[in-house]
Amino acid sequence: MKNIAVLTSGGDAPGMNAAIRAVVRSGINSGLRVFGIKRGYNGLIQGDIQEMKMSSVADIIQRGGTILRTARSEEFKTPEGLAKAVNVAKIFNIDGIVVIGGDGSFAGAQKLTESGIACIGIPGTIDNDLAYTDFTIGFDTAVNNVLDAINKIRDTSTSHERVSIIEVMGRHCGDIALHAGIAGGAESIIVPEIEFSVEDICRKLIQGKNRGKLHSIIVLAEGAGDGVKLEEKIRSMVDMEVRATILGYIQRGGNATAVDRLLASRMGAKAVELLLEGKEGRVVGIKDNKIFDMEIHEALAMKKIFNKDLYQLSDILSNNLSD
Ligand code: ADP
Ligand code: F6P
Repeated sequence: MKNIAVLTSGGDAPGMNAAIRAVVRSGINSGLRVFGIKRGYNGLIQGDIQEMKMSSVADIIQRGGTILRTARSEEFKTPEGLAKAVNVAKIFNIDGIVVIGGDGSFAGAQKLTESGIACIGIPGTIDNDLAYTDFTIGFDTAVNNVLDAINKIRDTSTSHERVSIIEVMGRHCGDIALHAGIAGGAESIIVPEIEFSVEDICRKLIQGKNRGKLHSIIVLAEGAGDGVKLEEKIRSMVDMEVRATILGYIQRGGNATAVDRLLASRMGAKAVELLLEGKEGRVVGIKDNKIFDMEIHEALAMKKIFNKDLYQLSDILSNNLSD
C-alpha cells in the first residue's frame, strides 16, 4: 500500500472534514501518499483527484460540510460507471480508498473492493441510521443544532402560549428526533419506528394545558409525517395555537461538536491503519466507546434497532398527568 485516496459521498455531515484530515495526516505520517477525490464517486469516474499534503487539511477540523464536496452519482451505480471508476483508480495508482458516507456509499465501496480497489468505509451521516455502529459522524452535531433550535423556539412558544411542532431530519430513522427531543424536554416525540395517534398527542396537550403549561414542544422526524399537515390536524382537533417549523439544512451544517471531531479523528486514523494492514471491504464503527471494524456486507445486512427504552423514558419525563 503506497497510495491511498479519500472521498465523501451522499449527504454531507459535520465532522466529515475532521475525518478527511485524520485520513490525510495519519496516511502521510505512515509514509503514504494521500489523494483527495472530489464530489464522491462522480469525481472518481471523472478523475477529479488531487494529492493532499498536511497543509491541505489545515484549519478544517471545525468546519461543517466537506472540503472534498459530495455527490450522489447515478452513473457509478451502473456497471459501466463502476468500470470507469476502477480504471481511473488504477490510472492514478490508487491502492486503497477511504469512503466517508452512509449505507449507499458503503454499497459502492463494497463493489469497488470486489472490483480490486481496496476500500474502507467510515460512517458519515447525521441520521445515525447505520445498525452496526453506536454513532455516525455528524449525528451529535445535528442533535445539538436541533437542540439549539428547540431552545429558541421554546421562547416564542412560551411567550405566545403556543404549541410548536419542530420537524427534523431522519427519513427512516428517528434518532435525531429522539435524542434532541429528550434533551430539549419535548412533550411528544414522533418517529417512524413507533406508531402514533394524533388523538394521544392532543390528549397530552390538553392535559398539559390543564396543569398550567404555557407551551408544548412536539419533535417530529420527517420520516414519520409532515410538520405542516400535523399542524393543521392538531389545530382542527384542539383549541390551541399551533405552529410548525421545519428545520431542514439548519441541522446539517455548522461547526462540528467535540464529540464528532473526536469520533472522526479516531475513525480516520483507524481506516488508514486497516489499509496498511492489507484489510479491505471493511467499515469502521464505534461500540461502547471502542473503535472497531467489520465487513461491509455484514454491516449493511444488520437491521437498526430503535432504542425503545429511551423512547419510553421520553414518555415518562413528559407525563402531564399531575402537577
Ligand atoms: P448515503 O451514502 O448517505 O447513504 P446515498 O444512498 O445517496 O447516500 O449513496 C451515495 C452514493 O453511493 C450514490 O449516489 C451512489 O453513487 C452510491 N451508491 C448507492 N447505492 C449503491 C449501490 N447499491 N451500488 C453502488 N453504488 C451505490
Ligand atoms: O443526510 C441524511 C439526510 O439528512 C436525511 O435525513 C434527509 O432526508 C436527506 O439527507 C436529505 O438530503 P438531500 O436534501 O441532500 O437529498
